[in-house]
Amino acid sequence: MSFHVLLNSYYNRINIVLKNYVSELPLKSTPLVQAMEYSVLLGGKRLRPLLVYATGNMLHAKDAALDAPAAAIECMHAYSLIHDDLPAIDNASVRRDQATCHCQFGEDTAILAGDALQTLSFSILINSIMPGVMLEKRIAMLSELAHASGVTGMCGGQMLDLISERQKTTIEKLESIHQHKTGALIRLAVRLGALTAGDVGVESIPDLDQFSDAIGLAFQVQDDILDIANDNKNLLKQTRSDRYAEKITYPELIGLDNSRIKIRDLYNKSLSVLEIFSNQKYNTTMLRALVSFIIQRDK
Ligand code: IPE
Ligand code: IPE
Ligand code: MG
Ligand code: MG
Ligand code: MG
Repeated sequence: MSFHVLLNSYYNRINIVLKNYVSELPLKSTPLVQAMEYSVLLGGKRLRPLLVYATGNMLHAKDAALDAPAAAIECMHAYSLIHDDLPAIDNASVRRDQATCHCQFGEDTAILAGDALQTLSFSILINSIMPGVMLEKRIAMLSELAHASGVTGMCGGQMLDLISERQKTTIEKLESIHQHKTGALIRLAVRLGALTAGDVGVESIPDLDQFSDAIGLAFQVQDDILDIANDNKNLLKQTRSDRYAEKITYPELIGLDNSRIKIRDLYNKSLSVLEIFSNQKYNTTMLRALVSFIIQRDK
């Protein structure tokens, strides 16, 4: 099976899984649930769920057991995007080529939709059937989910991002912001896939963390590069976050060419970690496909 076909089949799978979870929600005719549906189902690359499937798959976890963690992390991600776009944070009007959640549904509903997606993420992981997954592994996943999303992860990173505005930022500080605001959920995705696979996954976590830290940073450097391209494209339309101009990014700090070199180095690093697994006869095809996709993506 080609790289592309493999990723595509899991992309379709997670979309169906997410649709099913959303369809089970009560209050469907309210703006709250419509805003949740809008933010989770319309668009998005599904990178984090694909990482869950790819890691789990490599370590022989069952696809049916990976559905819940894959959906849980995407709901957490969708919530983070809704709140990131709010006027009080990035004040963005476009997300995934569409109106941001608060522009479409109002700030009040967008805040609630984010809140409810965050708790939905935990509900999915607590209540779903995960064939072959022991209770202790499920609890470990919940702990990882909380750790990666709160002060120690994404929320903490968002705060560091806000307070870094207009300040002189060093490369170390910028890396720490990225590790928290984006890297934590990428690391979580890989760890959730590993935990679904059981003890063999737990033993692999130190190596897998090396892998996810490399691709997490590569992903955010690429995001910064793409933000510049989008900014130029949308200058006249004023659709991008008006806060972006005040933010320090990788290209700004080390230049565009060095940012691209940085991505290439991180790419090579991630592949060298995957070699540890292929040497143990694990099939790393899907993870390698994802890494290539992350660094080559144009949106
Ligand atoms: C965008 O994430 C926000 C960041 C963490 C940089 P993605 O680029 O994964 O967004 P979608 O889900 O594909 O829209
Ligand atoms: C968003 O970072 C990170 C999170 C939502 C946690 P950015 O603000 O750089 O992402 P974009 O550029 O709006 O997608
Ligand atoms: Mg932001
Ligand atoms: Mg933003
Ligand atoms: Mg960005």
